[in-house]
Amino acid sequence: MSVVALIGSPRRDGNSAGLAGVVVEAAKKAGKTTRTFYLNDLTYRGCQACYACKQGLDHCVLSDSATEILEAVAAAEVVIFSSPVYFGDVTGQFKLFFDRAFSYFTPDYRTAANPSRLSPGKKLVFVQSQGQPDPTFFDDLYPRYDRFFKRLGFSETHLIRVVGVAAPGEALQRPEFVREAENVAAGLFSQGEVDW
Ligand SMILES: Cc1cc2nc3c(=O)[nH]c(=O)nc-3n(C[C@H](O)[C@H](O)[C@H](O)COP(=O)(O)O)c2cc1C
Repeated sequence: MSVVALIGSPRRDGNSAGLAGVVVEAAKKAGKTTRTFYLNDLTYRGCQACYACKQGLDHCVLSDSATEILEAVAAAEVVIFSSPVYFGDVTGQFKLFFDRAFSYFTPDYRTAANPSRLSPGKKLVFVQSQGQPDPTFFDDLYPRYDRFFKRLGFSETHLIRVVGVAAPGEALQRPEFVREAENVAAGLFSQGEVDW
């Protein structure tokens, strides 16, 4: 099984990357193949709304760093998307990539019961970190994106959410957040061994 992680923060040692790393390390320990993409280091364009992926092509017509990520996500069984909250939403780096995931939709995506070209059964973990300690702030973010994760065919989705963290590494010093990530990982990679 392969696990692909996308790091949406520009900080490689940041809080969202750190918790995504907890899941990646658990996957490695369970013998899974893993690959991590640091979006901030890559060069790619956003969706050009050319609709080539709906009119003849079954993939995005653009050829840049996002091409490889789109292929890796399509081949993965577990995908980890991680992003800090920037102005109430995901980072620009993540959104720029995610718009390219529009190419996963079939031409009849507006009416189809199964509108995704992705193979069924994929699992997804979303890591969200924010400076604001009140969890009622930005609790709309994940549900908004999760609708689209489900439309894209991710049958099982999980949220790892960190609030009130700012400096890199803070989340990894908070046992409750690390445990949350470990529990999600345990549910994915070691059946029946969830730490209650
Ligand atoms: C440009 C920018 C915008 C931000 N906007 C918000 C925000 O709207 N709400 C919030 O709670 N934190 C906001 N933050 C703080 C980050 O979400 C927070 O520090 C987060 O834990 C950083 O994640 P990272 O360590 O993975 O990079 C912002 C930070 C930056 C740099």
